[in-house]
Amino acid sequence: MFERVSVAPADPILGLNEAFKAETRPEKINLGVGVFKDAGGNTPILETVKEAERRLLNSENSKSYSSIEGAAEYALAVQKLLLGATSPLIASGRVKTAQAPGGTGALRIAAELMTRQLGVTTVWISEPTWGNHNSVFAAAGLTIKTYRYFDAETKGLDIDGMLADLGQVQPGDAVLLHGCCHNPTGVDPTIAQWGQITQVLKQQQALPFLDFAYQGFGEGVEEDAAGLRLLVEQIPEVIIASSFSKNFGLYNERVGAITVVAATADEAAAVLSQVKVLIRAIYSNPPFHGAAVVSTILQDPELTARWHQEVAAMRSRILDLRQAFVDGLKAQGVSQDFSFIAQQKGMFSFSGLNKEQVQRLRDEYAIYMVGSGRMNVAGMSTERMEYLCKAIAAVL
Ligand code: LMR
Repeated sequence: MFERVSVAPADPILGLNEAFKAETRPEKINLGVGVFKDAGGNTPILETVKEAERRLLNSENSKSYSSIEGAAEYALAVQKLLLGATSPLIASGRVKTAQAPGGTGALRIAAELMTRQLGVTTVWISEPTWGNHNSVFAAAGLTIKTYRYFDAETKGLDIDGMLADLGQVQPGDAVLLHGCCHNPTGVDPTIAQWGQITQVLKQQQALPFLDFAYQGFGEGVEEDAAGLRLLVEQIPEVIIASSFSKNFGLYNERVGAITVVAATADEAAAVLSQVKVLIRAIYSNPPFHGAAVVSTILQDPELTARWHQEVAAMRSRILDLRQAFVDGLKAQGVSQDFSFIAQQKGMFSFSGLNKEQVQRLRDEYAIYMVGSGRMNVAGMSTERMEYLCKAIAAVL
């Protein structure tokens, strides 16, 4: 039977990471997969995570099963981060959360919920978007449509195109929005634009579906949730897939959540019961450790304050790298205007480099980035900036 199986192509992001690991040239630079690197080039374990792990090691006294939806304290911690600690929505019972294996797991559970329970057949995604959105939604049987998002001329948001395309959404279609730090472009709507987007979604009776994987990497943990919070004030039903891979540096622990905001507490409870049925049939119940780390930190005000500082430090390092990159290209005599890179948010920017240029960077300079020209700015370093900028100047 297995002779019928052909070899699948490598994943455009994680496959590239494998290729990078196998790269033997010592000058290699990885701007592919979205992981944060510190000044030493390492992806560090946050100090608050280490502290939470020490506490868990001492207090944990059983490895018995978690409940299907994960721990109640984790769900509450997620909701407070997303909606604000004093959100009346949380107190109303209209919000329910289930732990999920990473943001991808949450997206897939949400997609299954849509097709199996909500009668959603179509999901709208931005053009461009994170490549895996297509795979996850197609695997769940959703039809995928795209809305305009990135203006290649201005390197900013094509808000007119976006609103016009969202005006074509049919009642009951889901519309995927990136909560902040759009992947791959680094371009986010302003709060006024979130207001416009919300009005169109409301008018079209769409189901807003947020992918929120970079909270804290844009302007701040609270600030980055402004668009989402506006949306849930105006629209009674929203689904959020969130992740702690980046802002807690818990990439390999696969810690995420699916959160549903419903019109009533009873409806929210019914939806959660169906989410549990889906989870039980896919992976039964979630892994414990990463979620326990997150809730240990977020339940302790002192650890929470320290975590906010750690997120702020990661954010400001990325901002510094953005500026250093723009300055570095100028110093190499690049006349093309790259100042937009310093304005964009989060880990990623669309460099504007084409496929051939990306390939040359890899072949000639051992610099790896995704074929679309997406760069993980958080993978740069001040030490290697000159080498990187020289190489880019050479291929431009
Ligand atoms: C990325 O976009 O690089 C990250 O979200 C990692 C992934 O799973 O693709």
